[in-house]
Amino acid sequence: MLFQSVCITSISAMTLSPKLTKLLNEQINNEMASSYVYLGMAAWFEQTPYSGFAQWMFAQSREETMHALKFYQYVVDRDAKVELQPIAKPKSNFKSPLDVFEHSLKQEQTVTQQINDLFEVAEQVKDHASKNLLLWFLNEQMEEEKTVRDMLDRLKLAGNDPASLLVLDREAGSRKGVGAGADAAAGA
Ligand code: FEO
Repeated sequence: MLFQSVCITSISAMTLSPKLTKLLNEQINNEMASSYVYLGMAAWFEQTPYSGFAQWMFAQSREETMHALKFYQYVVDRDAKVELQPIAKPKSNFKSPLDVFEHSLKQEQTVTQQINDLFEVAEQVKDHASKNLLLWFLNEQMEEEKTVRDMLDRLKLAGNDPASLLVLDREAGSRKGVGAGADAAAGA
């Protein structure tokens, strides 16, 4: 009798709650949509002289795909069902590099909110493994928001000065750490 109750407790602890399963599936979609948003930004930059910014956005797009795959793998590993949804068409026109990075910051803030909401649900259902995963993402979001804010500050200083913008473009193209999050997300 005691053995049976221990087994039932351990099985229920392993099961992902339906609410969390739904939200984690939504997050797979949110991260894929984010990847598409960044790919749209990269494509816009490819039509301008700013090849460094295009590279930055392309790398960021790849990183977001890796985030989606990390959530995908987690749902699979928890023996829950993955249900993929359509990805919305991303914005394809921007006014300036500053405009793109402002959209990028909003994008990251939205994702941070989504992860925060997920963390709250994981807490409610006492799913510690999910909380652990989501903490990794919260740290990742903090870093991403900071990186974008730093570039935004420099873009504001540069204003419309082409020489300054090209310096920032070169810097963006050689951005260190692009892909580091992706490698981590891939489990490297
Ligand atoms: Fe994976 Fe930056 O959101």
